[in-house]
Amino acid sequence: MNVQFELNGRLVQTEHEPGTTLMELLRSRELYSVKHGCDHGECGACTVLMDSKSVNACLILVHTVSGRKIETLESFSDHKTMHHIQDNFLHEGAAQCGYCTPGMILAVEALKREGGEIDEPGVRDALNGNLCRCTGYVKPVKAGLSTTKASRDKENAGGDS
Ligand code: FES
Ligand code: FES
Repeated sequence: MNVQFELNGRLVQTEHEPGTTLMELLRSRELYSVKHGCDHGECGACTVLMDSKSVNACLILVHTVSGRKIETLESFSDHKTMHHIQDNFLHEGAAQCGYCTPGMILAVEALKREGGEIDEPGVRDALNGNLCRCTGYVKPVKAGLSTTKASRDKENAGGDS
């Protein structure tokens, strides 16, 4: 099968077997921030952004992403400086093994892009589908809250988020 979509800001065309999931395709392209966890839509380790919404890539068949915009965590960094959400997770000590961290960061980014007022219940709700077996959720929630606060402060000051 053949599909065209935007991946991390570039138009890509794929040749793939029917039944290939987006998670399989992205990992075959060495986008290893997309983790292989449960394979059943339960852990959130494979989270990516599709048209700015967080989705589980293991549940999405590649042929359904035609014309969509897919983003993985790799597109958030230029390998020299960290994205501000990564910085916040680092600052809060919100990762141990890191397996869940890319998905959590993208879930927070999706929440930020939704706009609107962000509070602790909102961040907890956004991270609801991202399971962590190491840290618990207090620090990731704090990182999410500082992210949304920082971006709101920037917006209020007229800067980019
Ligand atoms: S690997 Fe996709 S939700 Fe667990
Ligand atoms: S930091 Fe290890 S699973 Fe979350």
